[in-house]
Amino acid sequence: MSLKLGEIVPFGRSRQEYELMFNLSQEDYQQVILGCGDGPASFNAQMTQEGYSVISIDPIYQFSKSEIQQRFDEVVDNIIAQVAATPDNWSWSYHRDAEDLRQNRVKALEIFLKDYEQGRKEGRYQAAALPHLPFESGQFKLALCSHLLFLYSDLLSVEFHIESLKELCRVAQEVRIFPLLTLGRQVSSHIEPVREALAKMGIKSRIEMANYEFQKGGNQMLRLFQE
Ligand SMILES: C[S@@+](CC[C@H](N)C(=O)[O-])C[C@H]1O[C@@H](n2cnc3c(N)ncnc32)[C@H](O)[C@@H]1O
Repeated sequence: MSLKLGEIVPFGRSRQEYELMFNLSQEDYQQVILGCGDGPASFNAQMTQEGYSVISIDPIYQFSKSEIQQRFDEVVDNIIAQVAATPDNWSWSYHRDAEDLRQNRVKALEIFLKDYEQGRKEGRYQAAALPHLPFESGQFKLALCSHLLFLYSDLLSVEFHIESLKELCRVAQEVRIFPLLTLGRQVSSHIEPVREALAKMGIKSRIEMANYEFQKGGNQMLRLFQE
């Protein structure tokens, strides 16, 4: 993989944020969950601590703990400054303000980094990248993808989205993606072409309200499933 820790920022969310974004239920927790593009989220670490099972894939897992920390440190001030400069673009229902956002992202990173080496040994953090996943067909009941697909629609083409979601649907019975807005807070123009292409392959989709909103208007997720 020739990824540079570049344009897609290594910001990670918590287990509670994942639960709210993806409307996760007790039933969902009973199976091994695939987290795609989990980066430095603390979801896997916290779920593992609670006795649940998550496998995360991300190309950044080819990097060391200190490289991931360094990349986070390089970008965090700039991102927090951008958020602080545009307070009306954000919903402050979860994070109180830009500083609280920073603290929450730092906390998620710390929990992730503490778990990272052990998790790599156990195969819970695997270096891989969409649109190819190193898993068997139907290996997971549920796959989650947070703040990657649709969000980075300006960087990632509609073809990349279709290939990636086809691949996620190959390895998981159900796939949930959040949010459906781009970084510029527009509804991604990829959503409808992707849904149409997947429908032709027999994959059904439904847009649902999530219990989480940070980008104003970014409170919906896409569910993909095969019956
Ligand atoms: C903004 S972060 C989101 C992290 C986490 N999902 C969360 O919401 O807290 C986006 C992540 O997508 C990862 N990523 C970039 N390209 C990817 C690809 N082709 N396949 C899987 N993950 C990718 C990045 O390395 C980064 O960790």
